[in-house]
Amino acid sequence: MDTSITLTVDGRRHDVVVDTRTTLLDALRERLAVTSAKKGCDHGQCGSCTVLLEGRRHLTCLTLAVAHDGDEIVTAAGVSALEGGAGDDAPTSLHPLQEAFLAHDGLQCGYCTPGQVCSAIGMLDEAKQGHPSHVTDDLEESVDPADLDDDEVRERMSGNLCRCGAYGGIVDAIREVAGGAPREGQPDRPAQPEREAAR
Ligand code: FES
Ligand code: FES
Repeated sequence: MDTSITLTVDGRRHDVVVDTRTTLLDALRERLAVTSAKKGCDHGQCGSCTVLLEGRRHLTCLTLAVAHDGDEIVTAAGVSALEGGAGDDAPTSLHPLQEAFLAHDGLQCGYCTPGQVCSAIGMLDEAKQGHPSHVTDDLEESVDPADLDDDEVRERMSGNLCRCGAYGGIVDAIREVAGGAPREGQPDRPAQPEREAAR
């Protein structure tokens, strides 16, 4: 059975008719030609289809498009417009997390990267709201993103797999944007203006 729904994706409103069995991922990719969300496993195992759905990270392969009529979706292609993103005055149109992924070699083939970026933005927001993870020591204390250590970042990002194994760079990128110290043995990265000057 077909039904008509409205989705707002990266700030653009789409009215689309979908079969009620269509996943949100297929609606994005096959009906709206929004290909930033990637299809990896198509059954909730890899995280490559992650987007921000009404501000929370979400796997689009595990949910039906009809369940999200009227919802707002932000993919990795639209994250620079988010609060804390690049903004109009920034020298690039990349979100700071995307910049950090590049600076720390947090990708190789890049297939998992859109999902990693959306998941990391959602994860840092969850941490700001004080959500604990399975490795949080003191569940009574609220969590400051700047205090997320490697174990916390790895656990909180464990739903996003990277077949290229770029995990070290991914953790470095996320910890930098969270405001935390670099991983042990990792040098401080030059500040943004210095990097721009070096280009
Ligand atoms: S494609 Fe959705 S989790 Fe793998
Ligand atoms: S960069 Fe290739 S799968 Fe992650």
